[in-house]
Amino acid sequence: MNHTGSKVLQTERLVLRPFRLGDAEAMFSNWAHDGEVTKYLTWTPHKSVEKTQGLLRIWEEEAKNPECYHWAIVLDGEVVGDVALVSNKEECGTVGYCLSRKCWGKGVMTETFRAVLKYLFEEVGFHRIEAVHSVENPASGRVMEKCGLRYEGTRRKAMRLLSTGEWTDIVCRAILEEDYFSKA
Ligand SMILES: CC(C)(COP(=O)(O)OP(=O)(O)OC[C@H]1O[C@@H](n2cnc3c(N)ncnc32)[C@H](O)[C@@H]1OP(=O)(O)O)[C@@H](O)C(=O)NCCC(=O)NCCS
Repeated sequence: MNHTGSKVLQTERLVLRPFRLGDAEAMFSNWAHDGEVTKYLTWTPHKSVEKTQGLLRIWEEEAKNPECYHWAIVLDGEVVGDVALVSNKEECGTVGYCLSRKCWGKGVMTETFRAVLKYLFEEVGFHRIEAVHSVENPASGRVMEKCGLRYEGTRRKAMRLLSTGEWTDIVCRAILEEDYFSKA
């Protein structure tokens, strides 16, 4: 493994770069305040931009660690989303992401996730990248599928949705380095 942290990544339409404190207003208004975005996530909408600023201060510190993989998604100069390795252990990582509602359905997260996978497999040397989503959030599953993550199973009522208090089934998907390089 060659841990090189959240290096700036460029795609056709996007720049992926580490978050900064100055992203607070955009992050708050574009997605962090929005209950529709957080519906299937593990956190609740931010009630104030100060909450967002507090988080960004922590993320700025974390970004100094070369084993931290966490990017702001920038489209046309505006910060519109977040993609990160939410856990990272022994060459295996779990990816999580979210995007401003105004950008949904334009292939932005697929383009983002593909760039992140390319970097993590080709430059850092990960062995396995996994991701999970609620059965009630098929758009996220579709992003994973398009990026080559294979279905591995469904954990029954494995997560309680903070938005409704209801338990939901969680779909598990993953891609191995051999899957990635056999397609490349
Ligand atoms: C899930 C999310 C990241 C998708 O981002 P996006 O940029 O809109 O995704 P893309 O446009 O790259 O791809 C979405 C795919 O899902 C499909 N899709 C959308 N709604 C769907 C639905 N209800 N059922 C099945 N597929 C659906 C789209 O048609 C598209 O597939 P296609 O290219 O084959 O047509 C975005 O909606 C989001 O941020 N949601 C809130 C946060 C979240 O749920 N994060 C993931 C937690 S696991």
